[in-house]
Amino acid sequence: MKLHYQLNAAFTALILVLMTITAFFIYSLLMDMLILDERRQLEARADILIDVINDQSPSSGPTLSQLVQDRNYPMLLFNQEEDVILFRTMPANIAQEWVLRYEGELVNQEVWAGGGERFVVYDFPLSPRSDQVLVMATPLNDLQAVQSVFALRMIVVILIGLILAVLISYFFTRRLVTPLSRLKLELKKIEKRQFDQLEAVEATGEIKEVEQSVRNMASELSRYIHSQKQFFQNASHELKTPLQSIQGYAEGIRDGIFEGEAAEKGYNVMISETERLKKIVNEMILLAKLDSSEDVYHPERTDIMSLVTQAHDRLLPLAQEKGVALSIQTDESFYAEVDHERVLQAFINIISNAIRHAEHEVRVETFEKNQSLVVKVSDDGEGIPQELLSQLFERFMKGKGGETGLGLAISRAIVERSGGSIKAYNESGAVFEIELPSD
Ligand SMILES: Nc1ncnc2c1ncn2[C@@H]1O[C@H](COP(=O)(O)OP(=O)(O)OP(=O)(O)O)[C@@H](O)[C@H]1O
Ligand SMILES: [Mg+2]
Repeated sequence: MKLHYQLNAAFTALILVLMTITAFFIYSLLMDMLILDERRQLEARADILIDVINDQSPSSGPTLSQLVQDRNYPMLLFNQEEDVILFRTMPANIAQEWVLRYEGELVNQEVWAGGGERFVVYDFPLSPRSDQVLVMATPLNDLQAVQSVFALRMIVVILIGLILAVLISYFFTRRLVTPLSRLKLELKKIEKRQFDQLEAVEATGEIKEVEQSVRNMASELSRYIHSQKQFFQNASHELKTPLQSIQGYAEGIRDGIFEGEAAEKGYNVMISETERLKKIVNEMILLAKLDSSEDVYHPERTDIMSLVTQAHDRLLPLAQEKGVALSIQTDESFYAEVDHERVLQAFINIISNAIRHAEHEVRVETFEKNQSLVVKVSDDGEGIPQELLSQLFERFMKGKGGETGLGLAISRAIVERSGGSIKAYNESGAVFEIELPSD
């Protein structure tokens, strides 16, 4: 069943239950209220009667018996000492029954039974010293008729209330469910990868938050699919170039086009290209393993400062060869739970890039920040090309004079596996900052 109908049904059922319970309580209290009210009226009527009796003069106004009979009031006047009926406007059998049962049973009751009927009564001694008791009565049937009319009206009110509740619930659930239905359509577009056709959904509260998350997810997915495509294009290009060169030399040597020294050069190119292919494939495998958390990363308590020093020492000859001054500034030990081989490799990748792109010098500095160690590598080269900056750490992303474009992708994968982060920006040259949390 659609959510819209489910919410409507739940809301209507709730209103129905609430109204029924309320109606039931009102209905059951109503009879008590009617009896109370009727007794008040009987009392008022009794007061009028007593006034009439007191004012009675033989010549003026209706007689007492005329008055009560005209109005059809069931009433009874009797002497309770002698059990004698003095006056009555009700059937004799009921009057007789009440006189006999009065003292022992009926005296404090509000509803008396008699002649198969029930009556609301108001009884009181006519005067403080007399034994005469006046009983005014109203058949309960009359009150039950009032109660039934009330019940009927209540049912009409409940029905009108219910119709209004359904209309209101329809309005509100529509407001709630429409953005969800729109969101469903947007998700269908994501499923079909129609990222450029996504439209904003008007919503508020949690639905708006979900919509925002869906949009973020879509743009992340779109970016991921794009980078995967680019990865495959770059990877196939990267692998095709050395393979073509190997194939060209191999065919040339087989067909006798390259002989002697030329063949010798061909063999050397084939070997170096094979080496390059092997390096690319190994790095791709390493990246895949780092991504899929296979057993290539063995963390242990490691002093990051000593790794920075080791990277510096290993790259010093390369820097001297290029005429670049490689300076290092380290502090006391900083321990982190990392795979030292891998993190050393990440440092070497970044520092060797800096040496390759530096004009005169490369600086490696370290400082602590929020329980983490930042290793900052800066050079005085031309900086990172602007168009490369946003995708610098993607696989096979390389600029002019780059090699395979996997070094930074591997470095980022290692740093992230170590629980850290890496970023790059330009200052007077390129700057790379690697942040590693302490153990
Ligand atoms: N210090 C730097 N200054 C300027 N550009 C840089 C610097 N470091 C990296 N780059 C740019 O980033 C690109 C990607 O670097 P990355 O290390 O991933 O690949 P690579 O050095 O080209 O090849 P390899 O996989 O052999 O390291 C480089 O080709 C270069 O254009
Ligand atoms: Mg590199």
